[in-house]
Amino acid sequence: MQDIPGCYLSHPDNCFWVAETEVIGRAEILAMVAVVGRRDGEMCGELFRMIVSSKCRRTGLGSRMTQTVIDFCKERGFSKVVLETSSIQTSAVALYKKLGFSHILSHTKTLILKCFFSSSIYTKYRIMTKQKQVFRNC
Ligand SMILES: CC(C)(COP(=O)(O)OP(=O)(O)OC[C@H]1O[C@@H](n2cnc3c(N)ncnc32)[C@H](O)[C@@H]1OP(=O)(O)O)[C@@H](O)C(=O)NCCC(=O)NCCS
Repeated sequence: MQDIPGCYLSHPDNCFWVAETEVIGRAEILAMVAVVGRRDGEMCGELFRMIVSSKCRRTGLGSRMTQTVIDFCKERGFSKVVLETSSIQTSAVALYKKLGFSHILSHTKTLILKCFFSSSIYTKYRIMTKQKQVFRNC
């Protein structure tokens, strides 16, 4: 994130999008998403950095950002879009399910929450890999 032009905008298979609005003459960022093209047998696009500002969630912006990535991957001739999310990110899991991503892989991780006054709390969650096939003509 410290070098967006260097990481995402210097190669035609990568891209970074920001959705913004203007509030009293100043630009305000509402959402962002990135894609990195990589070879996984065939070329695919990996979606990263998806976030929508908490004040405009459930208005369709996350869907539009994801669709932008899907359209980019189609145009580049990639065979699929892949991404990683986690069972904690329930909104993201619901979003990707609605947009037709399928679950291909998962593994469990343990999160240790250190509490100052009591002993540590351990919680398990799943890291999930999801993918959506893309076809240039549909
Ligand atoms: C995940 C995230 C990007 C979704 O953005 P959004 O703009 O709210 O998504 P949309 O409005 O396009 O929602 C599309 C669909 O996703 C599902 N969805 C999204 N948020 C949901 C929620 N909180 N609970 C249940 N379903 C949800 C719904 O099916 C929704 O369709 P509907 O509103 O017609 O029911 C947003 O919640 C976010 O930034 N979360 C924190 C960061 C994050 O988890 N990023 C993903 C990393 S992989």
